[in-house]
Amino acid sequence: MKKLLLLSGLLAVAVSCFSQDSYTVSTKVVKARVPATLWGLFFEDINRAADGGVYAEMVENRGFDFPKPMTAWSTWPSSHLRDGVFLVVNQAAVNAADPKYLSVNLRDRDTVGLMNSGFDEGMAFRNVPYSLTLRYRQVVPGVHVRVFLYNSRNKVIGRASMTLLQGADWVNQELKVMPTDTGTRGKLLVIFEGAGKLDVDRVSLFPSDTWKGRPGGLRADLVQKLADLKPGFLRFPGGCIVEGNQLVHRYQWKHTIGPLEGRELVQSIWADDVESRPTPDYMESFGLGFYEYFTLCEDIGAAPLPIINVGMSCQFDAAEVVPVNELEPYITDALDLVEFANGDTSTYWGKKRAELGHVAPFGMKFLGVGNENWGPQYAERLALFTDRLKAKYPDVRLVNATGYSRNIPVFTYMDSVLRARKADIIDEHFYDTPKWFMENSNRYDSYDRSGPKIFVGEYAAQSDRIGSMKNVNNLLTALSEACFMTGIERNADVVSMASYAPLFAHVTGWQWTPNLIWFDNASSFTTPNYYVQQLFSVNKGSVVVPLLASGKAVCGQDSCWASAVVDEGSHELVIKWVNMSGRPLVRSFKLDAGMSGMASVTSLSAGLSLVNSMASPDAVRPVVSAFPVKGKVIGFTAAPYSLNVIRVKINR
Ligand code: AHR
Repeated sequence: MKKLLLLSGLLAVAVSCFSQDSYTVSTKVVKARVPATLWGLFFEDINRAADGGVYAEMVENRGFDFPKPMTAWSTWPSSHLRDGVFLVVNQAAVNAADPKYLSVNLRDRDTVGLMNSGFDEGMAFRNVPYSLTLRYRQVVPGVHVRVFLYNSRNKVIGRASMTLLQGADWVNQELKVMPTDTGTRGKLLVIFEGAGKLDVDRVSLFPSDTWKGRPGGLRADLVQKLADLKPGFLRFPGGCIVEGNQLVHRYQWKHTIGPLEGRELVQSIWADDVESRPTPDYMESFGLGFYEYFTLCEDIGAAPLPIINVGMSCQFDAAEVVPVNELEPYITDALDLVEFANGDTSTYWGKKRAELGHVAPFGMKFLGVGNENWGPQYAERLALFTDRLKAKYPDVRLVNATGYSRNIPVFTYMDSVLRARKADIIDEHFYDTPKWFMENSNRYDSYDRSGPKIFVGEYAAQSDRIGSMKNVNNLLTALSEACFMTGIERNADVVSMASYAPLFAHVTGWQWTPNLIWFDNASSFTTPNYYVQQLFSVNKGSVVVPLLASGKAVCGQDSCWASAVVDEGSHELVIKWVNMSGRPLVRSFKLDAGMSGMASVTSLSAGLSLVNSMASPDAVRPVVSAFPVKGKVIGFTAAPYSLNVIRVKINR
């Protein structure tokens, strides 16, 4: 820390004259109040974000319900699938939500095994107890069960056995297994022995140290990374998965709550949507379902922003639409969702929520109607949803889409429709070059101040080209987003929400890049882009104040971008300053208020092409330092290619 203080002391050049290189900061002039929701998160189950990711289930295809029912499973001996020792039973005609189970038929003193390889590169075991849950029914008693955890060298690192409960009904039985060693790329083996017949509907394995220790919960390391962003909102569950590549694959929230065996699997749009990275085994189990999403929001202090299907499948795929006179079930789903989130326990869906464990309403204030939809077909359907939702729930603010990009006919058509209808919030998406993000930090300066609010619902700078599989999360992309974000902050009276996209990606199981947080089955790392999001979010302040260079907003002059907020609670001024030049730049910030004591500065700087990785998770990370301040002028030197967040107490 001492070293850092010295370094920042050298960088903090006292600039007495008020020159071209001076910015004025009027801390007493409030340009806008910073919405609590300004910086938030967009979560979609893409890149294994949910199944195989933040949802801590370690068994892939735990219920044998994948289209190929033995995906991720192998039997030992393998011939036993053919000779009937293991039989996949399909009961879809009577139970569509839980169509398949495995029947284990043992003759006298048989010993057979069922092995699961886990998601992607296999199971990672730590020094914590694991909870294995078997859902089964004993058809003919006499089968005994043992379980083994294997590491990558095929060494047993955990074992336990289960005495099955008596009775012929389906039961869930739990067993604890404590590994004797850690390991990655591991597997789970379940041994059945004896004589009898056992139906197995689900084999599930979770670590005990999930987020908040919740059984069957979420990966604590990944949720912590979300919590550390102090998000103002969480948009979920997507993204294209809301729409599905066909309507039958759309997201239906009612299928994602309650007992796991009632949550019907759906093939993810991401299984085959990206031709160069097919992931045929990408199914959505909905173990992370709507109740869990709402709980997650509550845990991390984020306002919930669920998105519902508007009667259209993904317009990049089949673009199916529901006839407008047949939309009722879709509209009912939307109305019921508000009741599920906000209704008291005298309502049908409020009671359901209470039965799931949350008596108090979730206090949902926002609802997205449609993901990336566009065109007259969207406008027509959206109007029907809006009328019904507004009639019943006038206080819920509706988020409406403008398609997949900005300033193209698709966008301008929807934008004008939504403005004419006085929509609450318009969702804009930007996947573009770093140059575009730098050049468009002034985008919202000219927006109608009395029109709809803007939600920058998805944005990410693309290092190679839009949608390229070569895109990386390097410092250049992160800093260019920071430039754009100074423009969002400056226009917080118009932009009320913004979220980077996508949020999570498995290092081998991804379909889309760039992404904010990367992980494997054991650990995770954050990107330069994550730090930019974090620096804006944890320093969001409460009011925007003018920061000007010669009377103008700082958005590109001399390769600089800057904005300022005041935190009225802590009486601090927070300046965000991006230096996109390859040389150190000196600036003086001339305030209308006095300061004393120390200013803190958090800086993110490195080579523009630098990235973080599993091997080098900290190649780019913010560095905190401090320097003394006095009077009304802050002098500071920004390192080449850097984002600097300066916080200082002021006498305002
Ligand atoms: O963020 C990835 C995808 O990009 C989202 O699912 C979709 O909304 C957009 O096209």
